[in-house]
Amino acid sequence: MSECLIRGRLLTFLDEPKGIDDTAAWRYEEDGAVLVRDGKVVESGDHAAIRRLAGPGVPVADHRPHLILPGLIDTHLHFPQTQAIASYGAQLLEWLNTYVFVEEQKFRNRAHADFVAERFLDELIANGTTTAVAYCSVHPESVEAYFSAAEARGMRMVGGKVMMDRNAPDALTDTPQRGYDETKRLIEKWHGRGRAHYAISPRFAITSTPEQLEMAGVLVAEHPDCYVQTHLSENRDEIAFATSLYPQAKDYTDIYAGHGLLTDRMLLGHCIYLSDREVSVLAETGAVGVFCPTSNLFLGSGLFDRDRFERAGARWSVATDVGAGTSFSMLETMDEAYKVLHLQGQRLTPFNAFYRMTLGNARALGLERHIGSLHAGADADIVVLDSRAKPAMDFRMRTATTLAEELFILQTMGDDRSVAEVYVAGRAMKGKPGKTPARVPE
Ligand code: GUN
Ligand code: FE
Repeated sequence: MSECLIRGRLLTFLDEPKGIDDTAAWRYEEDGAVLVRDGKVVESGDHAAIRRLAGPGVPVADHRPHLILPGLIDTHLHFPQTQAIASYGAQLLEWLNTYVFVEEQKFRNRAHADFVAERFLDELIANGTTTAVAYCSVHPESVEAYFSAAEARGMRMVGGKVMMDRNAPDALTDTPQRGYDETKRLIEKWHGRGRAHYAISPRFAITSTPEQLEMAGVLVAEHPDCYVQTHLSENRDEIAFATSLYPQAKDYTDIYAGHGLLTDRMLLGHCIYLSDREVSVLAETGAVGVFCPTSNLFLGSGLFDRDRFERAGARWSVATDVGAGTSFSMLETMDEAYKVLHLQGQRLTPFNAFYRMTLGNARALGLERHIGSLHAGADADIVVLDSRAKPAMDFRMRTATTLAEELFILQTMGDDRSVAEVYVAGRAMKGKPGKTPARVPE
């Protein structure tokens, strides 16, 4: 049995905060602790109480005065685009053709995929992200590399092979049958193995024929506990092209709905230019619109209208969308999310931002029993945040008096330097022990 006590200023959410005063939505302990046993949270709360639950001589990682939160969750990014971040000057379709479809061809080579998978996971961990939902390339080798590397680190990760059978280079296309067969084999091997979850991943309507989307729908029906992910309504040229390829569909959303892809396990990247009808279809099916602020700004795509989603009762989550997204950091992502919403007269409170990066995104994945909060029985995926990591943050923190202010400083000024430590299933991943590692006196 392995046990440890992680001490610091504890913050974990119980529900979505309705406002800055909705203190019932979170739990904050100035002197808090999490007791971890065999990779799971035994209990979290006030340090003195948690300390009494711990066995004698339990090792302590003392992270005071840093904040301890559940590990951050990223609900949409592209593992083969790790080296395509910061590709200059193009909007979506040109960017895909010029940069992404060149880069993704390298992932046919397992050694390359293994090499990038290590850096990709290093980067997630460095930024405090303990669970992510990624697209791999069309090559099954890339999925093998991705899940093997995640398994070696014990991370709870979601991913899948991109399915594409048109409008992409020959070296990046499968066929409806091959896409089905390869996906099926990967699901049978990886889905539910350790902490792996499979996501059936038709890239988007432009790169799949109706036959391929139909096969994707068959996979969804055969594997209802797998995730499904695609892109929807990100860019006006994309929408015109996609709807021209599916003239029978009522609109872009109807292309996916018509192939049985819209369920509450579906993650739809972007969702910028939806009609009211489309948003209501998402609300009815429980499909999740994924807000990718840095990506939407970087590609000049547009602004995600969160309030419209909430008015319609539709679900939404947040994500980096690396490599159109420009940072692996969920803190930097929420900084941009705040600005995108602000431009539209919408508010994102710091409590809501931190809820979204943790429990909110866990709920979007239906994984809230396991991740996104520090309740008893949860996976011990934990991030330790230092609000004074940069000189400018330290200087700004001198005038901060509330937790809300501190969170907003972290979200606005923070990045990987603010991530002091990360625990994956209770194991410290950054190799930085607490400031005063000690044994609890007997
Ligand atoms: N639409 C289809 N593929 C992609 C992709 O890789 N990135 C983004 N941002 N949009 C897409
Ligand atoms: Fe994407």
